[in-house]
Amino acid sequence: MNPVKIGVIGAGSISEMHFDSYKNNSDVEIYAVCDLNINRAEEKAIKYGANKFYSDYQELLALDEIDAVSICTWNDSHAEISIAAMRAGKHVLVEKPLCKTVKEAEEMQKAVNESESKILQVGFVRRFATNTQVLKKFIDSGDLGEIYYAKASCLRVLGNPGGWFADKERSGGGPLIDLGVHVIDLCWYLMGKPKVVSVTGNTYHKLGNRANIEHKSYYKAADYDSSKNSVEDLSNALIRFDNGASLLVDVSFTLHAQKEVMEVNLFGEKGGATIEPKLEIMTERHDTILNSTPQIDTLTFDFVKGFQNEINHFVECVQGKAKTISPVEDGVEIMKILTAIYESSETGSEVTF
Ligand SMILES: NC(=O)c1ccc[n+]([C@@H]2O[C@H](COP(=O)([O-])OP(=O)(O)OC[C@H]3O[C@@H](n4cnc5c(N)ncnc54)[C@H](O)[C@@H]3O)[C@@H](O)[C@H]2O)c1
Repeated sequence: MNPVKIGVIGAGSISEMHFDSYKNNSDVEIYAVCDLNINRAEEKAIKYGANKFYSDYQELLALDEIDAVSICTWNDSHAEISIAAMRAGKHVLVEKPLCKTVKEAEEMQKAVNESESKILQVGFVRRFATNTQVLKKFIDSGDLGEIYYAKASCLRVLGNPGGWFADKERSGGGPLIDLGVHVIDLCWYLMGKPKVVSVTGNTYHKLGNRANIEHKSYYKAADYDSSKNSVEDLSNALIRFDNGASLLVDVSFTLHAQKEVMEVNLFGEKGGATIEPKLEIMTERHDTILNSTPQIDTLTFDFVKGFQNEINHFVECVQGKAKTISPVEDGVEIMKILTAIYESSETGSEVTF
């Protein structure tokens, strides 16, 4: 079988995970790279053995040889580039969040529907983590019963990456759209993707980026500039679904918290589960409450394995061997939830669907 020829658009930090995972897949040829910063595109092309590199994504999409693209650009160009790629007849793996607005998301879905059986996979990488996939098997077998509540916290004490992440125009928002997207999707996916009926949310812009803090390091975007920050530093929300289930979430770039928190929990009628910080399943047997820890290589989210699984799955979908578990319509639903949280925060009232 011919190798699947891949183009990567956006050659910054996260593109490394895409490049490495494609490189490890023997069915793939990394064919071309594009970045607004041509030096970065060239550097990655040399590193990963791509033939061609560009600063204009249209030139990459014009290559007939390319079957599929990974889009790893800032959030503000996900919709435009994905739609152009679909129209150019390419399969698309687009990083999370799908885009910035519901309108853009619906336009992307329309482009997928109009394409000739091209797939668009959304980069909800946590769906591909081993701990998620193991738990999903338990849930699908009914071990947790009906899941009626989920609770997720992803709190950074100090971790506004700055650069485009802190520029609402390019990112669409702060920790909610950057971190919340992962944990909200993870819960929603494992809850069986119920339909959202209402959202109440808050965002706070109280602490800024705290660039004054010394002696504590954290991830910073390449173009970090402490004078610019237009995104929230904390967000929380209560999301209700049509089956009566609810999801409570809070996320921060910075907060006066004692330590970083990454906790994701699901609660069902027959059992509960903690996915992060490590997978554990709670049940009741013979009048006793039982906590079970699966014997698997990694109980927490394994970043490298998660991306490898995501990319391998995408390649199989491109080859027609599988149907994506992270389709565009799921990205649209998550955009509805995220934008409703921002709207609810602005209006001070609940958003209903
Ligand atoms: N799945 C995850 O866990 C995860 C983690 C980090 C980032 N991301 C997502 O990946 C995307 C990129 O994030 P990053 O951390 O790599 O940012 P980054 O700033 O390190 O890299 C983005 C790159 O895209 C380039 N770019 C921007 N617009 C472009 C355009 N129109 N055409 C060509 N190149 C363009 C920039 O020059 C930059 O080199 C974001 O959507 C982010 O939300 C996902």
